[in-house]
Amino acid sequence: MEDLSTIRSEALQAVEAAADLGALDAARVAALGKKGTVTGLMKTLGTLAPEQRKEFGARVNQLKGEIEAALDARKGALSSAALEAKLAAEKVDVTLPVRPERQGSLHPIGQVMDELAAIFGEMGFTWADGPDIEDDWHNFSALNIPPDHPARQMQDTFYLPPRADGTPMVLRTHTSPVQARTMLDKNVQKMLADGGSLRIIVPGRTFRIDNDATHTPMFHQVEGLVIDRTTHMGHLKGCLVDFCRAFFEIDDLPLRFRPSYFPFTEPSAEVDIGCSWKGGELKIGAGDSWLEILGSGMVHPNVIRNCGLDPEIYQGFAFGMGIDRIAMLKYGIPDLRAFFDADLRWLRHYGFSALEGAAR
Ligand code: PHE
Repeated sequence: MEDLSTIRSEALQAVEAAADLGALDAARVAALGKKGTVTGLMKTLGTLAPEQRKEFGARVNQLKGEIEAALDARKGALSSAALEAKLAAEKVDVTLPVRPERQGSLHPIGQVMDELAAIFGEMGFTWADGPDIEDDWHNFSALNIPPDHPARQMQDTFYLPPRADGTPMVLRTHTSPVQARTMLDKNVQKMLADGGSLRIIVPGRTFRIDNDATHTPMFHQVEGLVIDRTTHMGHLKGCLVDFCRAFFEIDDLPLRFRPSYFPFTEPSAEVDIGCSWKGGELKIGAGDSWLEILGSGMVHPNVIRNCGLDPEIYQGFAFGMGIDRIAMLKYGIPDLRAFFDADLRWLRHYGFSALEGAAR
């Protein structure tokens, strides 16, 4: 019968000395594995006489239990040491300053939409929307644009395949169809019948077949519409003067109302703002030049009638303005096409901080 003390002390020493989980497993295999020292002792049991076998077997089993307990204990110690080491290595210093992150910026179009919505909002206008894909009736006929009007010509308008019922479809060439959509709304008609006043702005995308430094096939307009029983040309003028001065942040910005023609307004006026080109550089404000920025007029009685309202009772004004254009003018952005190139370098240069935008 062998003396177990050597095997025992070797096995327990190997367990204690294991510096990591890999070494610990090697110690386990050395003692308890298929060819391990303790397993070897088990194999000798069969060669012993019955009484010896019983006595020696009990001692070997006890040794096995002792080694297993030591393995467990060491494993627990090594695991918590590994966790401690990990926690120490991954410690975060919450007092360190935040690493600067590159912030996104607002596109000038979105910024200008927010600015004009804020200004018109203070005058009681609400924001209205309409579809980019319009039917011919809302885009043209409702607005008193006759079938032979040049605006319908193929060179201006993107025509789409007609609807299944034959309705001709277009990409809207202006935001004016939303005038018709809004006046036709039953809730709006009820509000007007109750003596209310309709005041909307419609910022959105518009489309025309055109492409150069100041025209892109997709561009943005803001429509304005006021309808009630008393609104007249003086209101139109006051509203647009106030808007332009607030938008360009120039209190005495000169404005010029020039007689013009639109099928859907009568009388119609185009509005110019004063500017100078001194030294070849454009400056908005007093000067000897004018820049056209919008079209406007009193809503044509035919339009009011087409939209289900009585022109003997209701009247009002409308205007349409190029958002891209006023953005270029206000922020000195030279080329319209760059607006839609999705070039991040351009956006970082001309974009606006979201927080600045909100503060306006
Ligand atoms: N819809 C016109 C255009 O796109 C602008 C406009 C709107 C003019 C409303 C008068 C009234 O040119």
